[in-house]
Amino acid sequence: MSAHYQLTGTTAVEISASIESGIRTGALSPGAALPPVRALAAELGVSPATVARAYQELRQRGLLATAGRHGTRVRPRPPVAARRSALRPPPLPGARDLSRGEPDPRLLPPLGPHLAALATENAPSVGYSDAGVLPELAEVARARLRADGVPAGELTLTGGALDGIERLLGAHLRPGDAVAVEDPGWANLLDLVAALGLRPIGVPVDDEGPLVAGVAAALAAGARALIVTSRAQNPTGAAVSAARAEALRALLAGRRDLLLIEDDHAAELARVPLHPLAGATASWAFLRSVSKPFGPDLRLAVLVGDETTVARVSGRTRVGAGWVSTVLQRLVLALWRDPAVTELVQRAAQSYEQRREGLLAALAEHGLTAHGRSGINVWLPVADETSTVTALRDAGWAVAPGALYRIAAPPALRITVSSLDTADLAPLAAALAQAENPPPSQGFPT
Ligand SMILES: Cc1ncc(COP(=O)(O)O)c(C=O)c1O
Repeated sequence: MSAHYQLTGTTAVEISASIESGIRTGALSPGAALPPVRALAAELGVSPATVARAYQELRQRGLLATAGRHGTRVRPRPPVAARRSALRPPPLPGARDLSRGEPDPRLLPPLGPHLAALATENAPSVGYSDAGVLPELAEVARARLRADGVPAGELTLTGGALDGIERLLGAHLRPGDAVAVEDPGWANLLDLVAALGLRPIGVPVDDEGPLVAGVAAALAAGARALIVTSRAQNPTGAAVSAARAEALRALLAGRRDLLLIEDDHAAELARVPLHPLAGATASWAFLRSVSKPFGPDLRLAVLVGDETTVARVSGRTRVGAGWVSTVLQRLVLALWRDPAVTELVQRAAQSYEQRREGLLAALAEHGLTAHGRSGINVWLPVADETSTVTALRDAGWAVAPGALYRIAAPPALRITVSSLDTADLAPLAAALAQAENPPPSQGFPT
């Protein structure tokens, strides 16, 4: 915790408000440790039960996490608007930032020409009563999904994959319910699960996707939903293989008590085939975002699923946000239909693959085995995240500590390869090897 931030309050409500305010202003940064319950109780002159209630309320709202001997900490992305600068400390000046998990902006299709074309198209404006999914967009989206073996019947749109996951979980689960998530898995999803008051159950992942035994254990532990990343799993790059999909489908076959959510966020960028699980369970949804291939600012994902699940999501959207902007839908449709954009996305996919495989090969030359079957990230197991991240920072590279993505998985680093050039690969691999295996200390013998 910041040495300068003084927690205050004599009731649970006041103490939790003081912590929340610290998070909002940035005085308590993501990952900051809070004092042990008894220590804070003694400092504030209240009973430990009062402090414990304050911590519990903030845990249920996803602001705090308690992790065994690591004590209680501020979550990496607490659901309270903080200044952005407080969420992610900037890398040292001059350092190369490989910690962000973003596509390379140079490889995203330029939107200008299509925005200009839309401006001259003069399409009829859409009002409240007629708004929804544009039929022509739905048609193209279904065709694209069916070409990949996804049974795309009922369809709706959401403001991105994570918005879709939030709506799906909200429509099927209640606070306190358990959700099976990949471990390691996407940090934003772990934060969302916490913010919804749900309990994550970690399912171990290998290069071929979630382990069957891990999913079985999560089901036995009462998971009400299972979230699987089809390809370019974040952070490991795993992609569900044909054999793993078959085994998972057999395990899940006919289950009526589980919501299966598949996140195909890499979509056209994934250079491995899709092996969907869609339809294995009675309640299922398959999400395909446009963020990675076409740009994260587009905020649109296609959601298909069983009739009830899709109706719940689209019905709930109708009474709230209403619909995904028709202007945005027209833009996405124009991008999908443009062969030059398709070619650009393919080139981007190829380029990410070269960088990823180049880094894996360069690491192998140093005897380091890393993971990254698809997508824009490489996952490198390390002995100690903190010391490796610090040593790399000193060498001029910012990478993400695996702790952001892990529940019980062993330590590792996530390295985003999207902005790397070929010339970077050898020096980066050398710096990683050096950080992981520092030369023996030159100090006095002990
Ligand atoms: C696993 C995963 N799903 C989805 C997304 C994209 O989500 P959205 O469509 O909300 O931009 C990302 C982006 O990093 C991701 O890593």
